[in-house]
Amino acid sequence: MRILAIETSCDETAVALLEATGGTSSATYTVLGNALFSQAHLHAEYGGVYPNLAKREHQRNLPLLLDKVMAEAAMIYQSTPSIDLIAVTKGPGLEPALWTGIAFAEELGKKWGKPVLGVDHMEGHVVSALLKQGAVGSRQGAEAATYHLLPATLPLLALLISGGHTELVLMREWFKYELVGRTKDDSIGEAFDKVARMLDLGYPGGPKIAELADTQRQKGGTDMVFPRPMAHDNTCDFSFSGLKTAVLYKLRDMPKLTDNDRAHVAQAFEDAARDVIVIKTRRALQQTRPETLVVGGGVSANREIRKGLEKLIEEEFPDTTLAYPDKTLTGDNAIVIGAAAHLRAAAGYTTQGPLTAQGAQTLARSRQ
Ligand code: KG4
Ligand code: ZN
Repeated sequence: MRILAIETSCDETAVALLEATGGTSSATYTVLGNALFSQAHLHAEYGGVYPNLAKREHQRNLPLLLDKVMAEAAMIYQSTPSIDLIAVTKGPGLEPALWTGIAFAEELGKKWGKPVLGVDHMEGHVVSALLKQGAVGSRQGAEAATYHLLPATLPLLALLISGGHTELVLMREWFKYELVGRTKDDSIGEAFDKVARMLDLGYPGGPKIAELADTQRQKGGTDMVFPRPMAHDNTCDFSFSGLKTAVLYKLRDMPKLTDNDRAHVAQAFEDAARDVIVIKTRRALQQTRPETLVVGGGVSANREIRKGLEKLIEEEFPDTTLAYPDKTLTGDNAIVIGAAAHLRAAAGYTTQGPLTAQGAQTLARSRQ
């Protein structure tokens, strides 16, 4: 099955063409073409993603990226390319950005007479953790990356940590989700980005905070401590706005912020964020006892959080399998959207009616 996948939920415009085989127990994806344009540097001066700028950039870049992908797959001159399905992110995300991808996908679908399947962005992040890069194959003389799907034993608990979401979701059956916990206010990625802004580190702030914090740990660490919000309540819900406010108050006591101060704040903030993630994931593991824990979303690239989760699994849940995305798939991309669409199609889900952008929906319904 050949899938053209499109992702425009936030500030990455991405298009990929995959050749997919197998199903949920063993699938392989050969990347026939892949193109991604990150707008992050354009949004940097706003300190976050500016929706109308994102929309304009998606509109400008989608046709260019599609041509690039089609050229890579040697299909550029085919008036009806040999693909079976068009997959597009339908949400959650920024509505104007989502609509751009959806309109583009539907237009192609009409022109080529191909079905269009809407994919949940968070489902892409769940699947991302199960894709492992295989040997680079060759196709028509060119290199082609391949990804293999890890055969995951269910139930599977997904910790989704990104710029828009922080949630724990349980999957007992493929594509049936139960919400175990979620943030009551900011997402963890937002907290990283806002703290980075307070420290004048620029956007996106996650990687910059992580780098400063790592350097500080190597220098002997910090004595600075921030609170671990909601650590002691007995839910699996998160809160990050109190942590952000604690950083803000701390910075008020430091009117002349030095690089040394920045490094201490970055480490103390990252330590607190890591602990909150570990505490809530522990509680969710105790409550749901899954066979597999997957971590997805942009913040899953964070080394300190990975270390915390690895220690938790090793020491307290050694029978649970832990999976993260490859570094190439942690951020937003079209490969995981195509893979999620394939798994849904393989499980019998079909395209239905015209698509609508679903700005703020979450992957799962509450268990209560
Ligand atoms: O999944 P993603 O690419 O986009 C959304 O769906 O939101 O996640 C982006 C978020 C940003 O907040 C960014 O700062 C954060 O992921 N991020 C990180 C790291 N790399 C990216 N946060 C902490 N540590 C990192 N290494
Ligand atoms: Zn994302």
